[in-house]
Amino acid sequence: MSEQKAADNQSDPIPHTPWGHIMHGMWRNPLGLVGVTITTISIALMLVGLALDLFGLVQNPYVGIITYLVLPGGMVLGLAIIPLAAWLWRRKYRHVIPEKRLQIDLSNPRHQMGVLAFIFLTVINLAILAVVGYEGYHFTDSPYFCGMVCHKVMAPEYTAYQRSPHARVSCVDCHIGPGAEWFVQAKLSGLRQVAAVFRDSYSRPIPVPVHQLRPARDTCEQCHWPEKFHGKRVKEFYNFTDQNQLKPEITEIALHIGGRNPITSDFEGIHWHVSHNVEVRYLAVDEQRTQIARLKVKRPDGSQEEFVKPGLALPEGVEGKWRLMDCIDCHNRPTHVYDKPEERVDFGLRSKRINPEIPGIRADSLTALTRAYESRQEAEEQMVDYLLKLQADRNPEQMRKYERDIRTAGLYLLETYLGNIWPEMKVEWGTYRSHLGHQDADLGYGCFRCHDEEHETAAGRTVSQRCDLCHDAPF
Ligand code: HEC
Ligand code: HEC
Ligand code: HEC
Ligand code: HEC
Ligand code: HEC
Repeated sequence: MSEQKAADNQSDPIPHTPWGHIMHGMWRNPLGLVGVTITTISIALMLVGLALDLFGLVQNPYVGIITYLVLPGGMVLGLAIIPLAAWLWRRKYRHVIPEKRLQIDLSNPRHQMGVLAFIFLTVINLAILAVVGYEGYHFTDSPYFCGMVCHKVMAPEYTAYQRSPHARVSCVDCHIGPGAEWFVQAKLSGLRQVAAVFRDSYSRPIPVPVHQLRPARDTCEQCHWPEKFHGKRVKEFYNFTDQNQLKPEITEIALHIGGRNPITSDFEGIHWHVSHNVEVRYLAVDEQRTQIARLKVKRPDGSQEEFVKPGLALPEGVEGKWRLMDCIDCHNRPTHVYDKPEERVDFGLRSKRINPEIPGIRADSLTALTRAYESRQEAEEQMVDYLLKLQADRNPEQMRKYERDIRTAGLYLLETYLGNIWPEMKVEWGTYRSHLGHQDADLGYGCFRCHDEEHETAAGRTVSQRCDLCHDAPF
């Protein structure tokens, strides 16, 4: 069919002005109609989503994703299709319609109406986009979005975060911090991460340390100033043993938190490493930063010293990867705090959720808690029965006598398990260890990575392990 005929066959008269072409493109041409429909539906649904979210009527991250990410895309797409449809329409019938430029004649009432309608609709559309953009920006920055949208991936971090002292600090305060440059970087790497989730190509467990984390001095110091550290912090540790489930051994230490010495004005104590004009840099042999080969210290008086650990060879390519020590080198778990099984069992005994009177219950609790379950669901199905079985194996009569208490203990252990272990993300006991102390020194964690009396200067001075350097000797 020739184009001439096609035009003749149209039931509607062909408009002869460019305005008419736009209107025609919008209403009478299938593509234009698609554009109008997409825009209208997107706007309507967006307003519904916005209302649901703002009035807190639904708590579902997908409402947010659709309202703030999908629908605005639909609206813009629809708006882009309308002029495109008009243009295509005009091109198709360029033989039959006179070539005219878009002329606006404000004395023509039809043009007046057109211009007013155009301005009105544009303002409305921009206003909607602005509100949705603003809300969407806050939505994608909320812990709820970070923690729930990638539910399967972030479940361990989100769960640990919710029970930590920072449960009310949003993810972006630590992971992005202030400033436009990091914001853009974070959104870009966020897009890559979302893509990895869709391709199912992300690492399990998520590897640490997080190498592209913003220097902690820019984030933590929005709330904590090293200048303000002071004094000592007394901490008590309660430890039970399998032989002694009833009375804990209590160790009390007074940590030298540090700060400015009021007499000499010098910084001292644990936070000396990050205090004003002190720089501690280190060169680690491995990506995990657990094997530290060299250390450089710069002091406020300008003096410098280098400590070397003999016998720790530097592999190719590591030289030059010096890292300036910051909060994260000790506080690597400020909010994603995972428990240790012994700690949780001992806490259960102390809080009596595990009845300490039951013979062998400490050992059995640890066995049940650290058993390798295939999935969280399997743990839910088996843990309580398994604890009952362990107790029955010891003594069936004792098991029957304490059955109710053993069940209570089993449920407490299950709760602990579900707060710490995600087999599908390969998060197991000890996957994420803390540097804040000297518990796992043999694995390269904690203060003793450096404070091992082995890193030494040319003059033979070592980084000290003196028991009263970091805390009053325990008593
Ligand atoms: C108080 C600061 C802080 C807050 C708040 C915070 N994080 Fe983190 N997060 C960290 C630090 C520090 C690390 C780096 C740990 C490391 O490198 O060993 C980290 C690491 C992670 C990791 C890597 C895996 C891991 O367990 O170390 C993920 C994933 C993560 N955070 C997600 C989140 C999400 C999601 C939220 C909000 C629900 C959040 N974070 C809130 C400080 C924070
Ligand atoms: C938005 C403010 C904010 C940011 C950012 C922040 N914190 Fe905190 N932090 C707090 C508050 C508030 C508390 C006190 C919580 C409490 O006592 O319940 C706290 C407590 C702490 C504690 C003491 C925890 C305890 O067990 O008593 C440590 C350690 C800490 N923060 C380290 C960090 C580190 C490291 C970072 C950076 C990765 C950081 N914080 C970022 C607000 C913040
Ligand atoms: C050399 C390791 C190290 C570095 C670096 C470090 N801290 Fe600490 N910090 C500690 C230790 C150890 C404690 C005591 C922990 C405890 O109570 O178990 C502590 C305690 C704290 C507390 C609680 C203080 C109190 O009085 O209870 C806060 C808050 C804190 N650190 C924030 C920070 C921030 C922010 C930075 C970075 C500017 C930082 N720390 C750097 C080791 C460090
Ligand atoms: C990356 C290496 C490194 C790590 C990790 C490290 N330190 Fe240090 N620390 C040093 C160096 C280097 C010095 C200075 C040694 C010297 O000059 O004798 C030092 C000095 C100290 C001092 C004495 C500060 C003063 O002058 O008053 C204390 C206290 C201290 N560290 C506590 C800790 C604690 C607690 C941890 C673990 C939470 C820790 N350090 C982890 C490297 C480290
Ligand atoms: C470089 C700093 C540093 C040195 C040196 C150090 N400690 Fe500690 N120690 C710590 C920190 C930090 C903690 C607190 C850990 C925590 O909060 O979980 C701690 C905790 C402890 C605890 C209680 C932990 C528990 O699980 O019972 C004991 C006991 C202890 N230290 C003994 C010692 C002895 C003994 C020495 C001397 C060989 C020593 N420390 C040297 C930093 C140090």
